[in-house]
Amino acid sequence: MSTVDLASSTRRVRIEINERAVEAEVEPRLLLADFIRERAGLRGTHLGCEHGVCGACTVQLDGEPVRSCLMLAVQADGRSVRTVESLGRGGLHPLQRAFIECHGVQCGFCTPGILMSIEPLVQEGRTLTREEIRHALSGNLCRCTGYQGIIAAVELALSWAHT
Ligand code: FES
Ligand code: FES
Repeated sequence: MSTVDLASSTRRVRIEINERAVEAEVEPRLLLADFIRERAGLRGTHLGCEHGVCGACTVQLDGEPVRSCLMLAVQADGRSVRTVESLGRGGLHPLQRAFIECHGVQCGFCTPGILMSIEPLVQEGRTLTREEIRHALSGNLCRCTGYQGIIAAVELALSWAHT
């Protein structure tokens, strides 16, 4: 009886990352986060827990925030990914400006994941209460800031979206 060695078989995937097609031969077990960091060379996506808890690895898949440590690269084949590097091309994104203005960044490890989680809400021009902002941030852990600056930054960026 013939057997298939799944561990060593590879598959060609093509993922559009920040509007650039990235193609590579990958093992089926390769995480999307590792594909982004190692194959596309985009190190702004951080890996913290690698268990779907901290949110540091958050990117957008077809416009929706996802944890790239919980997805395989092969699952993103043919789809579109945005990473933090897509923000602020040609000048800082309003969210980035607001984070600087409100001191929402300390070590910065959590920041790319937070920006990619929140950016769709700013894009949609949502009006959120402080409580709703807290809820929107609940999947992203920050060990440095105590969240006050982050919440203020999100409030500021949302207010700019309405002016
Ligand atoms: S590294 Fe993905 S959620 Fe922590
Ligand atoms: S700024 Fe350091 S973990 Fe959030």
